[in-house]
Amino acid sequence: MLSKIGVIGGGMIGGVLVQEIVRRNLAKVVALTDPAPFVNPDDPPEKQEATKKQSVAKGKALDIAEGTPLINGDSILMPSRDYDVLDGCEIVINTAGVPRKARPDGTFPSREELLSINLKVTSQVADAIGKYCPEATIISIANPLDAIVYTLFEKLKPKKNRLIGMAGVLDSARYRYFVAKEAGVSVENVEALVLGGHGDTMVPVRSCCRIAGMPVTDFIAEDKLEAIESRTRKAGGEVVGLLGFGSAFVSPALSALEMAEAIIYDKKKIVAACALLEGEYGVDGLFVGVPLVLGAGGIEKIIEVNLTDNEKSLLMKSVDAVKETCGMVDKMLSQ
Ligand code: LAC
Repeated sequence: MLSKIGVIGGGMIGGVLVQEIVRRNLAKVVALTDPAPFVNPDDPPEKQEATKKQSVAKGKALDIAEGTPLINGDSILMPSRDYDVLDGCEIVINTAGVPRKARPDGTFPSREELLSINLKVTSQVADAIGKYCPEATIISIANPLDAIVYTLFEKLKPKKNRLIGMAGVLDSARYRYFVAKEAGVSVENVEALVLGGHGDTMVPVRSCCRIAGMPVTDFIAEDKLEAIESRTRKAGGEVVGLLGFGSAFVSPALSALEMAEAIIYDKKKIVAACALLEGEYGVDGLFVGVPLVLGAGGIEKIIEVNLTDNEKSLLMKSVDAVKETCGMVDKMLSQ
């Protein structure tokens, strides 16, 4: 059990995170910070006063706290509109930023289109982590995933083993789920790996997909597998289109918790996650989704998996897409 964990952002993902952290007894103290709701200067004074008294973080935390007698969770919740509650956190999970949302015509933006709006809050998040918990291990979920992790790195320069982006666990879980349904087997039997950036160029690695240790191709025909891989690449958008009000929140939160538990319990668990590459896979200075070992030391090892030539070239395409978005970050940060 940790002494203190922090969740940045009290939106849909933040809510599931806090609820699950309490239910699983992962930390004695759980900090939740979110500045919402914002006071609108155009509102009448009495509405502005009422808004100032509200707090999404406090409301969510109180709701969860009032349920703790029913789940035997004794964590202490520390919600606030301010970042100072992050003081002394050993792990922080960053969800700050707006999610993708379906437009009235049913279309929705790419994760990359969230960059300019989410970069501003990421700068504030970086300042807060630097001020209140500079030694914390950071698990970042906000989108565009790879570029936000890169931004946190540029601003904070943390030890590279302490900054990890959550995407590969989620993308691999989606691949596993689709494979399990198609093969008619338990999700527990399916192992899968999705590498690269957390965008439509991500690479589901068929050669690493196994059902109870056997190649997935023994169970599912080529054309069906292709359809599953294509659905995996666009799975985040599929949920955005269906929900209408935002993006997936349960599976992303569970994925971040898979990573947090691997660190808290020093599991040495191999997961796909976004990490700083320094020569691995021929990539230098970019954060990209790769298999790695997670334990008490954060990222303890990056694994270079054998890929087919086709998988290698798809991974390079995905790296190029990440590079392009990070180039946009560099430009925006220098303005
Ligand atoms: C998704 C978002 C959270 O893939 O990135 O659903």
